Amino acid sequence: EQYPHINKGLAGIVAFSTTKSFIDGQTGDLIYAGYHIDTLAENATFEEVCFLLWNDRLPNQEELDELHNKLRSERQLPEPVIEYIKNTRKDAEPMAVLRTAVSMLADFQDDSNDTNHAIAVTAQIPTIIAAFDRVRNGKEVVSPLDEGSTAFNFLYMLNGEKPGQAAEKTMNLCLVLHAEHGMNASTFTCRTICATESDMFSAVTGAIGALKGPLHGGANTAVMNMLLNLKEQGENADPVKFTKEKLNKKEKMMGFGHRVYKTFDPRAVHLRKMSKELSEETGHEYLYEWSEAMVKTMKEEKNIDPNVDFFSASVYYSIGIQPDLYTCIFTMSRISGWTAHFFEQKANNRLIRPRALYVGEKNLDWVPVEDR
Ligand code: CMC
Repeated sequence: EQYPHINKGLAGIVAFSTTKSFIDGQTGDLIYAGYHIDTLAENATFEEVCFLLWNDRLPNQEELDELHNKLRSERQLPEPVIEYIKNTRKDAEPMAVLRTAVSMLADFQDDSNDTNHAIAVTAQIPTIIAAFDRVRNGKEVVSPLDEGSTAFNFLYMLNGEKPGQAAEKTMNLCLVLHAEHGMNASTFTCRTICATESDMFSAVTGAIGALKGPLHGGANTAVMNMLLNLKEQGENADPVKFTKEKLNKKEKMMGFGHRVYKTFDPRAVHLRKMSKELSEETGHEYLYEWSEAMVKTMKEEKNIDPNVDFFSASVYYSIGIQPDLYTCIFTMSRISGWTAHFFEQKANNRLIRPRALYVGEKNLDWVPVEDR
């Protein structure tokens, strides 16, 4: 049997139908379940986006209140998970700790109801992230509040004090922008695991592993490290030279390029605006200026635009979040898309099982170990 063509990286392969999101890579448009990302960025809360992705429609007030209540009531972590967070290495990678803790959550579910699991994992991911960050910085773990939005409560648990409206709004917008994005690597991983009839926690744990990599969600941390490397050069810091040197060395500029977008990522439009405003407010103007210089240089040199991870780095930095937590925040949001795809896959399932073209030898003779 011959295969005519290998689609390296499955580029361009359409393997599912979905109602969760639509991406037009040419025009730079993104739609979640019917609503343009600009509309959602302007109006939506993260909780409304969760409901939208899970139900393919917006909630009415009663439904939204109910979702808020359910999420709030699920924020506490099981004690053994807190113990794990307290006892693991303080210098462990936050994404690795998050992956392990989410996997542990499976053992503490009272039922096998996917809807309950989606709510539990969405509610508890922010608690895990904040708890680990507190512990590794030698601070007391802050218990979640039984009030406020996901964005509000996360910042509260992270900093130990209630955030102001502006900070909550920024965090909410970041959560809205990262919630869902078609058949990206982590969502594909989630669906692949779901399609074996495994459980939601397995699927989400696998998805976290996929998101962690620097070619996917790990790029936001990598962008910040890149900007901080440049900062270390002090007065000699030159973002244009830095970009050109990286390209000359055939290194990737993190936060640039995309498999689907061949134009400006529509999410980056919003993050760019936030990055400008926040870096001015917090005295990190240089970060925004360097970022813009890199964008311009990448366009001129390679005709490549920034993706969602580029400006989110300076946004998170400006609101005081440690760089290695950025991918965890991405997870906190993308859990909504993963779980939505889990429901969709399960409702119309077929095992996901592509093939590989064998290009090895076929007729080798066995050689005893002492003769090899
Ligand atoms: N810096 C420099 N050159 C790049 C970059 C980049 N960031 N991205 C793509 N290119 C070049 C690439 O080297 C290739 O050049 P050539 O044709 O000369 O070999 C050309 O552009 C096409 O790239 P590709 O590797 O075929 O693109 P891909 O679709 O396989 O990979 C990508 C997409 C996102 C992995 C890649 O653009 C990349 O590694 N970017 C940096 C990491 C990053 O920012 N990832 C976040 C992705 S978006 C959101 C998310 O998932 O978190």
